[in-house]
Amino acid sequence: MSQNNPARAELVIVANRLPVDRVVEPDGTVGWRRSPGGLVAAIEPVMRANHGAWIGWPGGADAQADLEPFVEDGLWLVPVGLSAREVEEFYEGFSNATLWPLYHDVVATPEFHREWWDAYVTVNRRFAERAAEVAAEGATVWVHDYQMQLVPAMLRELRPDLRIGFFLHIPFPPAELFSQLPWRRQILEGLLGADLVGFQLPGAAQNFVRLVRQRVGHKTHRDSVYLPDGRVVQAGAFPISIDTAGFEELAATPEVVRRAAEIRQQLGNPRRILLGVDRLDYTKGIYARLRAFGELLSDGILDVEDAVFVQVATPSRERVDQYRILRDDIDRLVGRINGDLGRIGRPAISYLHSSYPREEMAALYLAADIMVVTPLRDGMNLVAKEYVACRLGDDGALVLSEFAGAADELKQAFLINPYDINGMKAAIIGAMEAEPKDLAKRMRAMRKTVAEHDVTAWADRFLAALSADLRTHGKTVRPAKRS
Ligand code: F6P
Repeated sequence: MSQNNPARAELVIVANRLPVDRVVEPDGTVGWRRSPGGLVAAIEPVMRANHGAWIGWPGGADAQADLEPFVEDGLWLVPVGLSAREVEEFYEGFSNATLWPLYHDVVATPEFHREWWDAYVTVNRRFAERAAEVAAEGATVWVHDYQMQLVPAMLRELRPDLRIGFFLHIPFPPAELFSQLPWRRQILEGLLGADLVGFQLPGAAQNFVRLVRQRVGHKTHRDSVYLPDGRVVQAGAFPISIDTAGFEELAATPEVVRRAAEIRQQLGNPRRILLGVDRLDYTKGIYARLRAFGELLSDGILDVEDAVFVQVATPSRERVDQYRILRDDIDRLVGRINGDLGRIGRPAISYLHSSYPREEMAALYLAADIMVVTPLRDGMNLVAKEYVACRLGDDGALVLSEFAGAADELKQAFLINPYDINGMKAAIIGAMEAEPKDLAKRMRAMRKTVAEHDVTAWADRFLAALSADLRTHGKTVRPAKRS
């Protein structure tokens, strides 16, 4: 086997999705398209540096699809298929209609269904078995996110020789909310199969350790859990970041700079462009944000000649009820605001229900005077960091929810409580009227933060902590190459 496709890998990534989606062209040929999301950008460099394997769902609903491992763009990819029923019960159901709302402060009501749980167990086992086959003796396996929380314990049982890390990309809720889950103990025991359990924020790690003490009864001290068999599981905070240098480079290209100017012109050269960029998800606070902007117009504080709000909403999880409801709500709100407050050639909100390539996103970030990021709860929010990375002139303003993980690092943003519409309106106006000197000071500090803490540093820190934890293993994972 070639170096890029070894029979067994020293580093194995397990995530719900592969970094590519399977697409069937109209003529029947099967191709692969890079899938969206921050996780892919985060993991790819370290994968390449270690010639690792990535296990994940290729998208679609066909458990029997051609699922041989393959190499795509230099990455060794190991697909795990899901049947139509598993997509419904494991992905749309337990992952995205039970865990997702439960872990995001119950901003939508989580549904608890026993058959969804059964599907979650079955699919997690399939992923664990695949990882057990692919990992070399003593290899490192890095399991990602809420869809895969049972994999660490299942994998440890199959392959006790492995070093196993788990990272949760979304928030981990306080005990009072997590305890609603009928399968709370099983989830905690699943995670305890890892040697290192990583979270975005220290508070989430504390929630986890406290829950383990309360619900599983293991001894704990600070971020350590002591298992009866002598194993020690470490919890910790590893705030994820972005490919900062990549975004900086992109924002400096003449094409992106030109496109940013063109966007401003196409919007009618308004004095101010406000921008929101989100997956169309009810946790992102899109509704309240657009309401706040609409009120600033109807109050007469802003005028459509002065300011336009560009909202990019990437389609997401469209078969899940709460997401359908949200789409209808946003469609109605945008229609109402534009109908009531727009003028010919001057809509109040330019609403784009679509996803765009990185180049177009960088141009939008460059064009936007004010970036408005207002989630009700968010593990991190990489869009806030991407905007900062693109502001090479140290201009622009970031309005950021206190309830996004990014607020822990981007302290110089205009921080808001997304439930407080008046506060949000005041912060938007504050950002619009701030002195350029004040904006430059804030942006410089935030740019320094995202430059120093990029995604490569994040992955290196996690993997170094995972190596350090284990006294019994000699092998270490090579850090990603810095560009
Ligand atoms: O933020 C959590 C997350 O699951 C990411 O891992 C992923 O990129 C994104 O949401 C999109 O979700 P989905 O895989 O459900 O489309």
